[in-house]
Amino acid sequence: MILSPSMLSADFSVLGEQIKEIEEAGAKWLHIDVMDGIFVPNISFGACVYKCLRKISGLFFDVHLMITEPERYIESFADAGADMITFHVEATEKAEECIDLIHSLGKKAGISLNPGTPVEAVKPYLEKVDMVLVMSVNPGHGGQKYIESVNPKITELRRLCGEDFLIEVDGGIKKDNIKAVLECGANVIVAGSAVFNDDITGSVKGLLEEV
Ligand code: DX5
Ligand code: ZN
Repeated sequence: MILSPSMLSADFSVLGEQIKEIEEAGAKWLHIDVMDGIFVPNISFGACVYKCLRKISGLFFDVHLMITEPERYIESFADAGADMITFHVEATEKAEECIDLIHSLGKKAGISLNPGTPVEAVKPYLEKVDMVLVMSVNPGHGGQKYIESVNPKITELRRLCGEDFLIEVDGGIKKDNIKAVLECGANVIVAGSAVFNDDITGSVKGLLEEV
């Protein structure tokens, strides 16, 4: 199992230090939430921010694009140092082209679906992608409550994709519900506020004990 701390909840005035801290605490992935203010109601940061982090971090950069028409920017997100680029199925009419483009740039490709989007929407792409990201909150902000009704979707995706496939779940995951999410079939866990709104080293270590 993999823990992917979301830097959306980090203190951006000391971002580099906090990213080093999660790495030293044992995290292997960093979840990077890019928001455009159109696909979601919030704006976060773009490629130039994590491009700087690339110089100081060996973490696997798990870039979650919450942007409309991601095909416009995939190349720049790849160039900035992403390892995995995940886009939303609801955000583009060119999902297949996006996957091919990400792969042609030598990166892993993920596809994401919102809590209200059925599994059917991603089914046509499951053979091509390296990961599915199931949103367990409506994307846009950290610190929201986990939406339990997504659990059957995680279980269905696990059944469809086999035991080794990467299924990431994102939103509202803390120490007290992480086990239940893993039991549904997730094997990559995003945690933002549960890591950065607390003692960072202690939180990463505590969550890693559960995954
Ligand atoms: C929500 C983002 C999440 C978020 C998770 O739009 O995609 O990655 O930062 O934060 P928590 O763990 O606080 O729900
Ligand atoms: Zn995310």
